[in-house]
Amino acid sequence: MVRLLLRQGHTVRAGVRSKRRGEAAATLGAETVVADLASFPEALVDACAGADVVINTAGAADPDPSAVNLVDRDGAIAAVRAAEKAGVARFLQLSAQFADSPDQGDRLVRSFLLAKQVSDSILRRSSLTWTVVRPGTLTDDPFTGRVKVAGHLEPGRISRQDVAAVLVASLNEPLTENRGFDVLGGEVPVGAALASIE
Ligand SMILES: NC(=O)c1ccc[n+]([C@@H]2O[C@H](COP(=O)([O-])OP(=O)(O)OC[C@H]3O[C@@H](n4cnc5c(N)ncnc54)[C@H](OP(=O)(O)O)[C@@H]3O)[C@@H](O)[C@H]2O)c1
Repeated sequence: MVRLLLRQGHTVRAGVRSKRRGEAAATLGAETVVADLASFPEALVDACAGADVVINTAGAADPDPSAVNLVDRDGAIAAVRAAEKAGVARFLQLSAQFADSPDQGDRLVRSFLLAKQVSDSILRRSSLTWTVVRPGTLTDDPFTGRVKVAGHLEPGRISRQDVAAVLVASLNEPLTENRGFDVLGGEVPVGAALASIE
């Protein structure tokens, strides 16, 4: 995503949990800033300062409910509040398909979806211009640039690279403002798919 943003002329500040984690982004030409969502909220305000947009793609590595609540719920909420305090205008949240109907799946899936639902709803009620992108299961398949987008879709999959393209393209598509949508791999070029969201 850093590469895509830079290619489109954006100035990128990549939030990372440690300077070492930021080496890849720095090599591409992004500024890096330490921004651990589970750490000090004030540091997040500093990390957001001067930005026009925050894109939160963080997610707990561990599916345990305590980790998910720390990062995907409380961490995402902390990022929203930090963006508000820093005067950021726009916030894109990488959520998950079915986060808006979390009463399904096993215990771990439910707690994950519930964490996303809570932070997504805080974002929707914030002062920020928001977008909630809800991908299906993520894969490491190659970039296709083709997706399927709708308010709600059947269960499916999408590559991480195509999700990155959707997030970046959302910055140029006003229809994605103050809207949440599902996204899966598909047949329609990303820009056209976003321009036809109903
Ligand atoms: N995997 C799926 O099938 C799936 C499906 C739907 C939605 N999602 C969502 O999509 C997003 C990306 O998922 P993924 O599978 O690509 O996850 P991933 O590879 O594990 O990446 C998660 C990222 O979150 C960062 N992170 C973790 N804890 C953090 C913290 N406390 N503060 C700041 N950053 C933190 C990690 O940083 P480090 O590099 O330092 O570890 C990592 O860069 C997540 O929000 C996830 O919930 C995933």
